[in-house]
Amino acid sequence: MLNIEEALSDAASLALEFIRSEEEKPVAPYRTPEQLLGDLDLSLQEKGLDHDEFIQLIREVLAFTPKTCSGCFYNQLFGGRDAVATLAEILAVVINTSMYTFKAAGPHVLIEQEVVSRMCRKVGFEHGDGILCPGGSIANLLVMAVARNEAEPGLRETGHSGRPMTVYASSESHYSITKSAGVIGIGRANVRQIRTDPSGRMDVDALNRAIAEDISAGRLPVAIVATAGTTVLGAFDPVADIAEVAGEHGVWLHVDGAFGGSVLMSGEHRHLLAGSEKADSFIWNPHKMMGVPVVCSAALFRNRAHLSANLYEQAEYLFQTEDDELNPGTRSLQCGRRNDAFKLWAAWRYHGDEGYERKVQKQFALARYAADRIEADGDLALTFYPESINVCFEVAGKSSEQICQSLRERELAVIGYGVVWGHRVIRLVCLNDALSTADIDDFLATVKAIAADLPPGENDI
Ligand SMILES: Cc1ncc(COP(=O)(O)O)c(C=O)c1O
Repeated sequence: MLNIEEALSDAASLALEFIRSEEEKPVAPYRTPEQLLGDLDLSLQEKGLDHDEFIQLIREVLAFTPKTCSGCFYNQLFGGRDAVATLAEILAVVINTSMYTFKAAGPHVLIEQEVVSRMCRKVGFEHGDGILCPGGSIANLLVMAVARNEAEPGLRETGHSGRPMTVYASSESHYSITKSAGVIGIGRANVRQIRTDPSGRMDVDALNRAIAEDISAGRLPVAIVATAGTTVLGAFDPVADIAEVAGEHGVWLHVDGAFGGSVLMSGEHRHLLAGSEKADSFIWNPHKMMGVPVVCSAALFRNRAHLSANLYEQAEYLFQTEDDELNPGTRSLQCGRRNDAFKLWAAWRYHGDEGYERKVQKQFALARYAADRIEADGDLALTFYPESINVCFEVAGKSSEQICQSLRERELAVIGYGVVWGHRVIRLVCLNDALSTADIDDFLATVKAIAADLPPGENDI
């Protein structure tokens, strides 16, 4: 029987093997799902495995696992590996803390309070509160549920009055906004998709008109969602102007900073989020630009009463000691909750604000370097000069979708495309600050070489 000491030692060997393989071969072998099912025996069976068979099977699974921490992974809004946060994450699994009570989590409750309080102060919520959530989508869901309850007093106790509710977000906002509206009874169709300017920033006049029309039609505006770092273009909605509109109409203002919240760590770039201190809520994913392992997301509220006012339930079998402040389960959607605070706190304590400032600066510098290179290259077309760290571009006359697929099939890089103004563009996310400008040069040269082998292609949809 495998004991925990052997298990940890096996885990360390397998992890190091995986990390070394990233250096030797930064992209995992390409396999279709059908091929993978042929290559790997994933079936659960009556009979178990002995130690060697088990380790071999795990090794095979790792061999085909996408290498999301390598320098050739640009596909999502996370990347790279932070050694300190990884250390703490491994320990979080070993100590197996559940974050509902001080009785069960001890110092980890205080650690979560510290990270939440520091994040609130970075936003400008001097007396705010918050909770870590399993990802930005759930953080958005939580915020929207709180905003909905605050918009219609009594809803939490007796349910929806039936008055149609509306939410406002830009056409570039993340899909978790419409999804949440569908889940919490606002209705997906009642999310007004406000148009943007060409670079992807919300048109504030269009927002103002949409709210005024809805109010005069008897609808109840629940929330405006300003996106700080849109998923494709990395654009920042003008939060300060949006805050004025929110104030005029008395509507909850939420900032979805899942991607771009970390820009608050940079003295040079934090102006992109100016006005966030006037918002009612803010979400921020340290698992994106701060490089903490997936997942780590905070939902932050300017008014510290909002969380418990909307989530508190009595449960004598759980909340038995200490006061509610020290029992975060009284302010959380979840009961049992993963300890995502420890890895963030450990990395932040180790690197300091200064370390994160350097990280964000480097990400912006890499993105600018990539954008300049693309602009200067006659075969490539830059979609927009990036406002932050997403560099969108096309190869003239070639399909972005085919280029991305070909890079993956040939095991050269993993990258995705987005749609901008009806056009498919390759999205290069400059998140992994272990990359150098030479890596960006290599990547662009690879894209051009792959594109040269492809037939002419279309990007219009
Ligand atoms: C702007 C924005 N909001 C929310 C999310 C959702 O975050 P998560 O993937 O942690 O659910 C994302 C994810 O990319 C995002 O870009």
